[in-house]
Amino acid sequence: MTTRVLSGIQPSGTKHLGNYFGAIRQHIQLQDAHPGQCFYFIADYHALTTLHDADALRASVRELAVTYLALGLDPEKATLFRQSDVPEVTELAWLLATVTGMGLLERAHGYKDKVAKGITSSVGLFTYPVLMAADILIYDAALVPVGKDQIQHVEMTQDMATHFNQTYGKGTALLQRPEFRLSEAPYVTGTDGQKMSTSYGNTLPLFESGKRLKKLVGGIVTDSTELGTPLDPERCNVFALLKLFASAEELERIAGDYRAGSRDGEPFGYGHAKLVLAEHIDRHFSEARARREELLAHPERVEAVLQRGAARARATARATLERCRRACGLI
Ligand code: ADP
Ligand code: TRP
Repeated sequence: MTTRVLSGIQPSGTKHLGNYFGAIRQHIQLQDAHPGQCFYFIADYHALTTLHDADALRASVRELAVTYLALGLDPEKATLFRQSDVPEVTELAWLLATVTGMGLLERAHGYKDKVAKGITSSVGLFTYPVLMAADILIYDAALVPVGKDQIQHVEMTQDMATHFNQTYGKGTALLQRPEFRLSEAPYVTGTDGQKMSTSYGNTLPLFESGKRLKKLVGGIVTDSTELGTPLDPERCNVFALLKLFASAEELERIAGDYRAGSRDGEPFGYGHAKLVLAEHIDRHFSEARARREELLAHPERVEAVLQRGAARARATARATLERCRRACGLI
């Protein structure tokens, strides 16, 4: 039995360490566990609920495709495509909308959170979960790897599949009920100690290096304990980030330096830890940075990957839509 794995990623500017360790890394790892079965798409239709600038959207979509490819997504193993290259999904969203109660959408935390943040409440924003359900159901996805914030959307998708099957399927499983998979992702803290997030302005972007990276890492908030005084590593934002990169032995050694407030007889402070962290980040992403530069210089290669991915995805989408149209009486 094959397991179709599917996830959508919103294009929204530069991705950061939180996005990498929280989502992108797991997506890429899954391509080896489920070769040929992973579908990942760039959710540009969804992005339109918050972004109304065509050039910015195009740039974000390209940047995200480049990011995945640079970080190791292999188009031979996984299918990467643009959501809008398979417009069939919007038709399935309409069919699903006809069996989706208002109450279900009114309970969506994602919608409420966005409105609370000041995002204009449009019909598109309100029906966002219906389009997301169509994304999942049109590709017969069995497994949807997502972050915590998206679990409710997958549960709503399960409800919509059930209603659709009951209403139009005469007891047959026209649409497959998906399961979510919460990745064992670390909670990545930002430069201010809160959750790293674009909306908090506390991110460490992927692909920074050298002086600029050192400067960003230098901005991580620490307390003002004097250099050479013993420090508690477990209360330090720099140490929290180091855990993502350093080996257990190295962490143990650095924790010792913190507690002693010295290293090799010299005073040790947050500045030293920051240098170690910047070097780790620099090294960890150096290959990906080089691949990214190469891809940015060859946008046609990136476009070719997206086109090939869309052709593959579209074949599945058309078959599902055809089945559903027939069941609804549209053919
Ligand atoms: P942002 O908060 O920067 O807008 P998104 O909400 O677009 O990020 O998140 C995209 C993905 O990255 C989600 O799957 C989310 O769970 C993951 N992610 C984002 N920030 C973090 C973080 N600080 N720690 C772990 N995972 C994160
Ligand atoms: N709503 C998701 C997010 O903001 C993106 C998304 C759109 C998605 N369609 C999807 C995720 C389908 C998984 C499956 O992160």
